[in-house]
Amino acid sequence: MRTDMKAVRYERYGSSEVLRIEQAERPAPGAGQVLVKVAGTTFNPVDATIREGYLKEVFPLELPHVPGIDVAGTVAETGDDVEGFAVGDAVIGFLPMNAPGAAAEYVLAPAAVLAAAPKTADPADAAALPSVALTAWEALFEYAGLAAGTGRSVLVNGASGAVGGYAVQLAARAGAVVTATSSPPHADRVRGYGAARIVDHTATTLAEAGVGTFDAVLNLVTTSPAETAELVGLVADGGVLVSTTVDAVPDPARAVRTARVFARSDANLLAELVALVDSGDLHIHIADRRPLADLPAVHAAAAEGRLPGKTVITV
Ligand SMILES: NC(=O)c1ccc[n+]([C@@H]2O[C@H](COP(=O)([O-])OP(=O)(O)OC[C@H]3O[C@@H](n4cnc5c(N)ncnc54)[C@H](OP(=O)(O)O)[C@@H]3O)[C@@H](O)[C@H]2O)c1
Repeated sequence: MRTDMKAVRYERYGSSEVLRIEQAERPAPGAGQVLVKVAGTTFNPVDATIREGYLKEVFPLELPHVPGIDVAGTVAETGDDVEGFAVGDAVIGFLPMNAPGAAAEYVLAPAAVLAAAPKTADPADAAALPSVALTAWEALFEYAGLAAGTGRSVLVNGASGAVGGYAVQLAARAGAVVTATSSPPHADRVRGYGAARIVDHTATTLAEAGVGTFDAVLNLVTTSPAETAELVGLVADGGVLVSTTVDAVPDPARAVRTARVFARSDANLLAELVALVDSGDLHIHIADRRPLADLPAVHAAAAEGRLPGKTVITV
């Protein structure tokens, strides 16, 4: 007989009001699975998109659904055929989008998505790394084809957000010359991440700022078709626009290609990012920390556009 656990979940798609904190059954790990005692999870914009039901074709959910695609915690139990993890190990992971998530005291994770947690980060704060840092790395090095030491120029649009902060750090570390958009409250932090130039998007457009062109443009903002086309215009001939948010029309006449990111969970890559955190080369920025019971309020704040950067949910 397994005990209950606290979880935030929803029984139907809808606004943040569908979220309830409830007692739920504590799951048992099957083959290849790890039961993680959750220390922290996060809010990601996609959590709201899934909750609203917009992605039910792509990520069909079994309702009630527990949100939370990032997990940081400790191994509580391992299922059959799990190697490399023992009870008590501190772990983090980017969980499958349509499986029960980590806004609960316990979550099941496929062992294949877990990596050892950073030793230098707070146990709950470590949840702010997996999905967004993987997105930033994959966008830069897989989709945009950035390579270390080539000195390419990169524009990060939306650099003060969760993905953007990691993208600026990783691009600068790879030797790229980074231009970043940021509102004034975050500009010093983004500059500290290695951005050579900051454009205040609340005061000017990139075109007005005369930023020139870039080998790669990383778009992390939900831009209108006209704004997206302007960003494509900022790509140098033969370059690329990579977007996490919207599709963009390429410009074959100038050999400008465009790509839309679909972030992939990757435990080996996550372990590399953890190593960068522990060596002091990648900083985890937390905008806010809220207890599990506040998750419905966090979703409501996001819907009203009042959620800056990464909010960690402590469990
Ligand atoms: N496709 C995928 O696999 C994938 C994966 C991860 C994330 N995403 C998406 O990528 C986007 C960014 O994610 P995130 O977690 O980084 O979100 P976030 O933390 O909310 O950051 C978004 C940032 O965009 C900035 N911003 C807003 N309007 C702007 C504008 N007009 N120009 C420039 N910057 C602007 C805001 O900064 P200021 O305060 O400076 O305005 C904000 O910090 C979200 O839409 C998310 O859903 C997609």
